[in-house]
Amino acid sequence: MHLLDNPIRSEELLVKTFDIKHRFYASSSEPLTHKELIEFARENGDDYLINLYNDHSLGYAENGGSEDLRQVIATLYDEKISADNIVIFPGGQTGMTITTLAMLHSGDHAIIVTPSYQSLEEGVKLAGGKVTRVPLTPNDKWQVDVEAIKKAIQKNTRYLVFNDPHNPSGSLMREDIKRELVKIAEANDILILSDEVYRLLEFDDSQRSASVAELTKNGLALATMAKPWGAGGTCVGWVVCQDNTIIESLRKAQHMFGVCFSRAGEIQAMMAIRATKQIVGRNLQIIRDNLELLDAFFHEYEEWFEWIRPEASGTGFVKFKGPITADDLAKQLLDVGILVFPSYIFDCDEDLKQYFRIGFSRRTMPAALNAFKKFVDENSENWRQYK
Ligand SMILES: Cc1ncc(COP(=O)(O)O)c(C=O)c1O
Repeated sequence: MHLLDNPIRSEELLVKTFDIKHRFYASSSEPLTHKELIEFARENGDDYLINLYNDHSLGYAENGGSEDLRQVIATLYDEKISADNIVIFPGGQTGMTITTLAMLHSGDHAIIVTPSYQSLEEGVKLAGGKVTRVPLTPNDKWQVDVEAIKKAIQKNTRYLVFNDPHNPSGSLMREDIKRELVKIAEANDILILSDEVYRLLEFDDSQRSASVAELTKNGLALATMAKPWGAGGTCVGWVVCQDNTIIESLRKAQHMFGVCFSRAGEIQAMMAIRATKQIVGRNLQIIRDNLELLDAFFHEYEEWFEWIRPEASGTGFVKFKGPITADDLAKQLLDVGILVFPSYIFDCDEDLKQYFRIGFSRRTMPAALNAFKKFVDENSENWRQYK
């Protein structure tokens, strides 16, 4: 497969809509500013990081990510994870793709839980892998069907890919299911690529399950500054794994694609992670406030929408009950300056054609919801005629 055979579906839409008024699809947290970051660092007594930032060299940073950053990241995991178990990548997307290219060989088989972030699957195809999709459904609140995973295993299955907390639904995988998948992977010599970029954004802390990287040596966990911290501009993502041979391979693979890390971004990431309580706490409050508005809206408009309340992150997958598909609905919304991500972005099967993703992690969401409400009010009469 050639790199550009399957362009990323959301990319095309996002380029066209860079200046759109209402980003009702957005998945990353409220963007953090450098000024706020410095204030948090001062509050936390991290003046050494402010000095490091002001004095840092613009030469090359350490390949695979500087040790000080990897040490700070390790504090987000349990004692099995140290700086040596982490490889830094320029963002989550690069991390997932390079990891997959490094782990798979042509002809290897991968099982991917869908709907999913497109690059999780494209990486496998680019590596020459064969894909079996195991779809989630709203019937059991987007939980993985363990029996379907077992059935999908072939002699050459090397990789199991899932995303938890899940984009687009905002659901959390039940802990017993996660542990069952780990057992299956260990018994069948399968690596798990667990996209955990929305971890730390669970609405109820007690529902956060262990990272796959903590649970098994077969686990590779992906994270990014873009989501919980709203700091995608630092261009820092990472992969965590207990197995040092795998870490060594990832470091080598990462080196092939980029040796030019941003030390400024690394230092900003350290400041942000050390201020996780303040930053993620603030971002979760924005999410909770927006959720209240959404709960009220979907209750009032249940004639048109089915709302399975998310449990984590800032996205939800909503069912449209009107007479057109979610793809057509999204096209009409675009005409009035509102961007949502409809089912085609996630290449959904027929049974999810009425679904679209909304994002509610930004302070701008209430204005987007008002515009959306106006659109629904203006179209309801017409939809009723065709129902
Ligand atoms: C599930 C998931 N994984 C990975 C990424 C990519 O992360 P990054 O923006 O750091 O490249 C995203 C971004 O939307 C995502 O939703």
